[in-house]
This record gives sequence, C-alpha cells and structure tokens, in this order.
Amino acid sequence: KKITIAIDGYSSTGKSTLAKQLAKELGYVYVDTGAMYRAITLFAMHSGYIGDESINVDGLVSELFKIQLKFVFNKDLGFSEMYLNGENVERKIRKMEVSKNVSRIAEIEQVRIKLVEMQRKMGAEKGIVMDGRDIGTVVFPDAELKVFMTASPEKRAYRRYKELLDRGEKVSYEDVLENVEKRDHIDSHREFSPLMKAKDAVEFDNSDMGLKEQFERMHNHALR
Ligand code: C5P
Repeated sequence: KKITIAIDGYSSTGKSTLAKQLAKELGYVYVDTGAMYRAITLFAMHSGYIGDESINVDGLVSELFKIQLKFVFNKDLGFSEMYLNGENVERKIRKMEVSKNVSRIAEIEQVRIKLVEMQRKMGAEKGIVMDGRDIGTVVFPDAELKVFMTASPEKRAYRRYKELLDRGEKVSYEDVLENVEKRDHIDSHREFSPLMKAKDAVEFDNSDMGLKEQFERMHNHALR
C-alpha cells in the first residue's frame, strides 16, 4: 500500500538527496517544495519586488496569479526540474542570490497559501515523498511517515558550500554558513507555519551518518 512521506528539517540537512533516493527506490513521486519557494523568489527578483532593505509584498502578491510553476521530469538526469512560466529555472534557483532572499519570500502568507494548495494537489494520490519545512505539520498532517532531519550548522554549511563550488559558483564557506544560519532563524521564527518538528515525526540527526546508512534507516521506516 502506497503512503505519503513527509520530510522536513533545517537547510541543507540532505533532505532532498535522501528523499530523491527513497522515491526512486519505492517508485514514488518526489516533490521538492523548496524549489517552489525559490522559483517565486526568482520571479520577485526579476520583477523588481526585492530591494536591498525591503520587499514590495503588495506588488508581489498582486502578481502571484501570473506565476505558473511546473515540475518536468528529466529522463537523463532522473529527476524533475523546476519550470517558471515555461522556463527551466532549475540552475538559477539554486544560486546563492536566491538563497539569500528566499526565506523572506517564504514568510509571506499569500505565497504559502498558494504553494500549500499546489502541494496538496500534487500529493492527492499516495505514493509521494515531499520535502520542505512544513510538510508534516501543515501540508500533510496525516502523512503516514514523517521525518525531521537535523545536523550541525557547520556540517550543513560545508555540504552546501561543496555543492555550490561543484556548480561553479564563487562563494566562501563563511558566507554559506551565515546564509544557512540566517535562513534557519527566519524559517523557525516566522508567523505562518514556522519550521518545527511534527509531534509524530521521527527525528534524524545525520551529522555523522553516511548516505548509505541514512538511506537504509529511512527505508526501514518507510517499509515498516
Ligand atoms: O529546501 P530549500 O533549502 O531549497 O528551501 C529554500 C527555502 O524555502 C527555505 O529556507 C524556506 O525559507 C523556504 N521553504 C519553506 N517551506 C517549505 C520549503 C521551503 O518555507 N515547505
């Protein structure tokens, strides 16, 4: 019997790597909700709604209806890529510039309402692995398996730093660490659906766990 798997946690805890692998193994659909918040952030940046100090929330909210988001499966890569109004933005949304702004966009209530509704539709059929910050608490409070992932900020920043370097971005470890800590702070203190562990979530600290061990543990939980 297929189930719904919700994976939440702090930034760069390796949620997506694990979720992707789990989905592949179980033959489930994987949804990266962070990509959706990132795509809206990219839209806001391109439309001039994000200034150095402030965000034009009303402006952005009035144009939310124009934003079309879509995941398109890429057979060669073996995972889905994010499309914003018909454009493949998968690479752009992973950039540091987007990471720096995304948590401020994710605080906006109307943005969350729009995305949560889309996510519920995507997960209407069981057999889904969804990762994010509020999946087990808000999007699918009835998910059969909930995982809450943590790891030390240094480990997480280092992982993200290496990822960005591999993609050819010039960043410093200190910048990445600062970004990870800032996002975690905003994400856990915002008014609407702040990041927190669902009461019935399995907590998972993978600071010192290899990918193989993490995967085996999750897999065991999923099949229980
Ligand atoms: O998962 P990822 O690090 O790509 O998410 C980027 C940002 O999007 C998070 O730092 C958070 O601000 C926001 N987010 C959210 N709720 C989700 C997924 C992501 O607020 N379900």
